[in-house]
Amino acid sequence: MPESRAIVLYWAVILTLLTLWLELGVAGTLPTHHRPLRLPNETYPLSYQLHINSSIHMGNFLFNGNATIDIEIRQSTNEIVLHAKNLSDFRITVLRLNDDAAAIGAGAAEFELVDDLTHTFDSHGSFLVIYPFENYQAFEAGQRYRVEILYTGEMQKKARGLYWMTYENELDNRTVYVAATQSEPTYARMIFPCYDEPAIKSNFSIRLTHSGNYIAISNMPVKELIRHNADLTTTSFLPTPPMSTYLVAFVISDFEHISTSYRGITQSVYSSPTLKEKGQYALKNAVLTVSALEDYFSISYPLEKLDHVALNKNFGAAMENWGLITYKEDNLLSQEKGDLFKRVKDKITQNHEIVHQWFGNLVSPEWWSYAWMNEGFASYFSYVITDMLYPELKVMDFFADSEADRAYSYNSFLDVRPMTSYVETEAEIVSAFDIITYKRAACVIKMFHHAFHRKTFVSGISGFLSKYQYSVANELNLFDCLQTAVLQDGQFPHQLWTHKVREIMLSWTHSEWMPIVSVIRNYQNNTITFRQRSIHSKSEHWWIPLNFATTQQPSFEQTHAEYFMPPQTQHTISLEDLKLQLNGSDWLIVNKQQTGFYHVHYDNENLQAIARQLQTDHTQIHPVNRAALIQDINSLIEHNAIESMNVVLEMLKYMEFEQDLRPWKSVSDTIPILQKNLFGTPSYTMFLQFVRRLVTPMFKSLFGETNGGQVNETVFESGEIIIHIACAVDLAECLDYTHRQAMEYFFNKVHIDNYNIYDTMLCFGTKYLNDDEFEQALKMLQSIERESAYADDMLYSLRCIQSHSHLLHYLEFLMGENSTHHALNDNEAMMYLPFLYKSNLEGRSVIWQFIDRNYKLLCRSPTFVEHFNEIAEFLPQHQRAYFETLREKIATHLRHESLNSRDILINSNSNNVGKKMRNSELFLEKFEHEIHKWLLNEIPQSEDVFAASLSVSNGSSRSEGVLQTANRLVQRALHSNILL
Ligand SMILES: *[C@@H]1O[C@H](CO)[C@@H](O)[C@H](O)[C@H]1NC(C)=O
Ligand SMILES: *[C@@H]1O[C@H](CO)[C@@H](O)[C@H](O)[C@H]1NC(C)=O
Ligand SMILES: *[C@@H]1O[C@H](CO)[C@@H](O)[C@H](O)[C@H]1NC(C)=O
Repeated sequence: MPESRAIVLYWAVILTLLTLWLELGVAGTLPTHHRPLRLPNETYPLSYQLHINSSIHMGNFLFNGNATIDIEIRQSTNEIVLHAKNLSDFRITVLRLNDDAAAIGAGAAEFELVDDLTHTFDSHGSFLVIYPFENYQAFEAGQRYRVEILYTGEMQKKARGLYWMTYENELDNRTVYVAATQSEPTYARMIFPCYDEPAIKSNFSIRLTHSGNYIAISNMPVKELIRHNADLTTTSFLPTPPMSTYLVAFVISDFEHISTSYRGITQSVYSSPTLKEKGQYALKNAVLTVSALEDYFSISYPLEKLDHVALNKNFGAAMENWGLITYKEDNLLSQEKGDLFKRVKDKITQNHEIVHQWFGNLVSPEWWSYAWMNEGFASYFSYVITDMLYPELKVMDFFADSEADRAYSYNSFLDVRPMTSYVETEAEIVSAFDIITYKRAACVIKMFHHAFHRKTFVSGISGFLSKYQYSVANELNLFDCLQTAVLQDGQFPHQLWTHKVREIMLSWTHSEWMPIVSVIRNYQNNTITFRQRSIHSKSEHWWIPLNFATTQQPSFEQTHAEYFMPPQTQHTISLEDLKLQLNGSDWLIVNKQQTGFYHVHYDNENLQAIARQLQTDHTQIHPVNRAALIQDINSLIEHNAIESMNVVLEMLKYMEFEQDLRPWKSVSDTIPILQKNLFGTPSYTMFLQFVRRLVTPMFKSLFGETNGGQVNETVFESGEIIIHIACAVDLAECLDYTHRQAMEYFFNKVHIDNYNIYDTMLCFGTKYLNDDEFEQALKMLQSIERESAYADDMLYSLRCIQSHSHLLHYLEFLMGENSTHHALNDNEAMMYLPFLYKSNLEGRSVIWQFIDRNYKLLCRSPTFVEHFNEIAEFLPQHQRAYFETLREKIATHLRHESLNSRDILINSNSNNVGKKMRNSELFLEKFEHEIHKWLLNEIPQSEDVFAASLSVSNGSSRSEGVLQTANRLVQRALHSNILL
């Protein structure tokens, strides 16, 4: 049948049907039991025709929709179930499509109206259920139906479903309205009724009717523009390839664009008209990235176009809708200049979404349990591809810093779950997009990218992408493709594990925690015993890819697996079987470049050999491993589980020569732990002196005169960690540097050069104020607007003061008897006490003194007891008697005055008293003597000890750009990352 005739017939039928309009408005009765939250599988959509009519240009948020869905009945059923949410006024028509119309002969109707249907809405599952009034199997297996659903909806204010936003047109000060969509993960159902599960792919033909002055863009190129009149246009788009509902997208706006075409793909950046030119950098990057990915995965980008749209309201930083990536304006349009860190981050964000065009869009997860197969791949390969395109940015270091670090540490403070875990409710689905899905998965994928040989891994995933393109996959499908590649490439002859790829991968995607591998060398019989355990007490085991660097064969560049440790607690193997040449005094390092996602611990002798190497020539060991060695030791120190502190100090000793920021980053965790533990002991000043020696060269090279005091910015670190270490141990140059900047800011409001380390600068710059500066600071604080970011900065920084008399004065000023300034309200003041206590070791004795003097006043605050109890947790053992007396005074006063506090005063003999100090006290019991002896040996005693009597604060929080967000003081105090 010729096309034109089909269309005429089609319209004839539709028009007839319009007159037979069926109002299916009667709501049926809801079943009392909840139906399952997953869609039943009896019916399946073949294609959607979606028409949405909007007057968003007038600020009208209501929209009309017509979702016409052709469906196939796979098993006879009496209901059609699909998703809908926040939509209303459903008018539903169901037609049976008569496939053998041709056979029946000319004139036979192709569509047959199915009458006596009704529908109901099940809000529990957000289901729209269409079923017959009379209970019978209305829909027969093998039949096809056309379900036409007319409905209305209201655009959301939040970036979910179809939502609206505004911007001010700078040219004529007009408020311009824009509509956009966010469908992932479960919001397509808020735009149109649909089978809103990722596995249910279909073709979508989208049509949008909108103001003639606006444009509409969607996943696909425009097929046709119909101008109904000067004010009304309908834009129709070409049908999509089979696609999941969560990728449906469109934007209705007055935006303008810039475009480039390369290899038959037109890419455009859309933005509000005045910002148009700012998209050039992003456009260039997108063109490079798409073609690089086509080559890398050996699969072409399948659509003709890819748009990048800058919105001032978006769900996250960006969303990967197929052919139409939406971004927060600020993440797309500022790649040209500004903070290097942010520019690189934005580039990675854009490339993350572009990688999704393959991982997620072309091959989609069978269900949200496999969200990591989208996000893990996009997260990891966005770095890989950015690194290939811009090697000078060294983004793999940035990966370690911003992705892996979080993945390594998340399980110390969050509930963990396996990468693959079943989710069902909408809330569960949304919460599946977490650190595990993005960062842990990225680390695990990175591990196997290296372990299986990078080329082999990539050929495995190319095979996977081409096998499952336009379709969906689960993890086993992926693992089997990797299995095929591993066997085909034959890189690992005669190794038993090569047949066990499924088992290997499952041990990582179904485990909750992360392994620690202990490497215990037996120096007599030339064997190595590997032990594995979870960082948690949970009993879990993994197939762990190991590789080895040794004195004789450093080979840090080869990162494939040399051996897979089987999933058992302990395994001993000979050097010969590992093909390792290792003499007794040689060092051995496992997990080259830390591509494996696990910690490694070594026996003491091996650590000593490593320390010797670091001291003679640290460059023999890869900088990533230098960083990893110390990182892995940190947790042992924290838990007092290290065998000897001597070897730790020997390892730290070489840092004097370390010019790479990566190891310094690990050390920036070690030093505060040791410093906190040693505070108040005879070793303390020697320790500070030792650290000053280590950090001086690095400090000078970053902040010294030679580079005019300009901070050498690298992508992953701003040098903040060096200031942290140097100022915390009172390196004079550092204190000077920060003091100058802090005073300029406080008294002349001169902004600090290095924006990212504002907060650190101010804290350290405030450590040692002279009397004048201190008085002046208090005066400023008295005179300024409390609700300003400036006042916040002042209050936040002054907690770092070291002088006892100044601190006491400051506390009196803030909350003492004669305080009239009310810089802080009562509640804030009470919170400030524990905040200061935790962040300033030197201030602790002052705080006790202050409480002792002012408890009668403080007790009037209903939250004082709560905060007093909190402080009591940090009470050192030797102050116990003092504490008991003070506590008794407070208790008596509270009783006498019958003051009501929200909390019960902590008991003197409560286990909580001093609980937070116990670890440090244990540490000292165990190691103080050893450390003292080592330091005596190391530190020349005659040297003038700078600031020997001064002590040290722990510095401010590591969170960047506090001013940027202008957080209120209290929030900062609550969230600051204080190392205690
Ligand atoms: C639908 O799901 C049921 C239960 O899981 C299964 O037994 C049946 O084979 C499925 N039917 C189709 C058509 O996929
Ligand atoms: C709804 O859309 C379908 C498919 O485009 C079309 O055939 C039908 O006429 C539309 N219905 C109305 C009432 O516009
Ligand atoms: C837009 O508003 C700004 C600031 O309110 C004003 O200076 C400017 O003249 C206005 N422009 C137009 C075209 O009205």
